[in-house]
Amino acid sequence: MRLLVTGGLGFIGSNFIRHMLSKRRGLRVVNLDARTYAGNPANLADLAGDPRYRWIRGDIADPRTVERAMAGCDAVVHCAAETHVDRSILDASVFLRTNVIGTQVLLDAALRQRVSRFVHVSTDEVYGSVPRGRSREEDRLKPNSPYAASKAASDLVARSYAVTHGAPVIVTRASNNFGPYQYPEKALPLMITNWLDGLPFPLYGDGLQVRDWLYVVDHARALELVLEKGKPGEIYNVGGSHGCDNLELVERVRGLMGIPKDLVRRVADRPGHDRRYALDCSKLRALGFRHAYAFSEALEKTVSWYRARQQWWRPLKKGGGYQAYYRKQYSPRLKAEVR
Ligand code: DAU
Repeated sequence: MRLLVTGGLGFIGSNFIRHMLSKRRGLRVVNLDARTYAGNPANLADLAGDPRYRWIRGDIADPRTVERAMAGCDAVVHCAAETHVDRSILDASVFLRTNVIGTQVLLDAALRQRVSRFVHVSTDEVYGSVPRGRSREEDRLKPNSPYAASKAASDLVARSYAVTHGAPVIVTRASNNFGPYQYPEKALPLMITNWLDGLPFPLYGDGLQVRDWLYVVDHARALELVLEKGKPGEIYNVGGSHGCDNLELVERVRGLMGIPKDLVRRVADRPGHDRRYALDCSKLRALGFRHAYAFSEALEKTVSWYRARQQWWRPLKKGGGYQAYYRKQYSPRLKAEVR
């Protein structure tokens, strides 16, 4: 089988490609990735020289590039996206272009090239905040951030191609991923790497927002299962193995790393911050999915990985783009710390 993975230099995409190539000998993977700030060839450095893997640098919103990358592929797993909520608040335009237009361009090519499966990797954020209970796949979409709105829009475009054109589209909606190779702007890698440098972690608001933590390797396993056994036209929630609020997350990581309390700073909240996500994953379980990693084990592995792989994240944090973003996002907040 020849598989096109979009966004394969990103966090989820790179973990997915590594997982698939380690499991399936006869597989060929084409990775279409624009190498944005969050796409990093170092994420797949271990595949250098592997004849089963090829990276094509290009934009998913460019039809000619997409056509070329998809040629001869049997299936597509579409991971490419702009994904950071805080950045979407600062500037939404690239989110709409990549996440919505990019998905439409890919779907058009998938129809022309008659691929057998198109897995659209989405997020639980499309359901919006759920005060109680768990979101089911048929629930109405109520995205609150520009990022979540762009993903909800792309889910609807994908759905429309399945209904109107019979495209073999499957949508997955995952909860908060964590693990190796996550760009250090997201809460967990930011926390761990800041603490390794003796810097504070800026905790938004009261820290009582609940997230459902999914180890990225389990996410890769779920995507593999859905690709193989999922039903075209269906949506599958992919939840984590532990839901908790940010205060608990901070305490667990602080405990693992032996960090003093004063390295947590309460800062002004994220505007529109969703209070709680929780997923009903019975459809995925019915396909046979079980988590392979307990949360505590996966969290320990993750902390150890960032401790051991400083040569991976230090250059990212030193970069001008990261520094400029960090200053814009956090300087005013850290100056006006909330007690
Ligand atoms: O739920 C799935 C989503 O999870 C994905 O679709 C997104 O791409 C991914 O970024 C993530 O969204 P969140 O906004 O939940 O993740 P983030 O790591 O930014 O934040 C996790 C929680 O930590 C959230 O409640 C906000 C909080 N937080 C985050 C940052 C970056 C802080 O308190 N301080 C911070 O500096």
